[in-house]
Amino acid sequence: MRLTAGMTAGDALAAITAEFRSAGLPTPDLDARFLVQSVLGIDAAALFVDRTRILGAAAMPLSAAVERRLANEPVSRILGWRDFYGRRFAISPAVLDPRADTETVIDLALAIAGEKGWRERPIRIADIGTGSGILACTLLAELPQATAVATDISAAAVAVAMANARSLGVEARVTAIVTRGLAGAEGVFDLIVSNPPYIATADLERLDLDVRGFDPAMALDGGPDGLAIYREIASEIIRLRSPTVIVLEFGVGQAEAVTALFADDMTAPPRFGCDLGGHTRCVALEIHR
Ligand SMILES: C[S@@+](CC[C@H](N)C(=O)[O-])C[C@H]1O[C@@H](n2cnc3c(N)ncnc32)[C@H](O)[C@@H]1O
Repeated sequence: MRLTAGMTAGDALAAITAEFRSAGLPTPDLDARFLVQSVLGIDAAALFVDRTRILGAAAMPLSAAVERRLANEPVSRILGWRDFYGRRFAISPAVLDPRADTETVIDLALAIAGEKGWRERPIRIADIGTGSGILACTLLAELPQATAVATDISAAAVAVAMANARSLGVEARVTAIVTRGLAGAEGVFDLIVSNPPYIATADLERLDLDVRGFDPAMALDGGPDGLAIYREIASEIIRLRSPTVIVLEFGVGQAEAVTALFADDMTAPPRFGCDLGGHTRCVALEIHR
């Protein structure tokens, strides 16, 4: 789609919305508004009151952004950022595009932190498979005395996580390591969080194009039954040999299978968290070895 420099923001918005709608995109109005606002560098209120603003030099980058969306690229990937738990995180092709579902991990972890008085003491956190760093950085921002080790098998992901830690001002409290699981990380962790890959390998090709085409395979592929990384995490817990709380995200329908992997080590009943659709999507386990 070619937008011209003389076009107004209002006309561009209408044209882009119509194009997205006829292409069958699921949220044409929202996507169009987000792209116009972001490329023009204005908020929703400014776009609403000033529809006669001329696109000018923004016409070209906006046309390019529209083409990318028409090729099914998610808006967040086009913009290069995603908001998570009220904070902005940069994303790159090397990391999973953070999902709102993952906020359930933070909700559950912070509820437990409140009960255990972790806001007032310097607890140690591990985030396995940190990706863009959303879990480690959000917990450090919410728990000002905490420190964290964030791991990922992808060096490029670890670089994105550290860039986000810097922009959120928590970099002095996070150590990022390129490794499998927690290999190389020693000592006691009060809290371990993870949103590991959990899609069974055979199901990857059935994912929607905007997931399969843009999220890195190593962020999605959970092995033959989707549980391979949970098994790795369970054996890490045994290696650490210390009490900890672990909060894990999983896919719809995996609650029982994931919890069962830790059954021998739990000292309290599991606590579950649900996503906005009411699906059980994370579990908190008190572990003692
Ligand atoms: C589903 S993504 C989650 C990223 C981020 N925590 C989030 O919630 O947006 C899983 C991440 O785990 C990493 N990963 C996969 N296998 C791993 C392993 N064995 N050890 C550590 N990281 C792993 C991937 O590279 C990817 O960044």
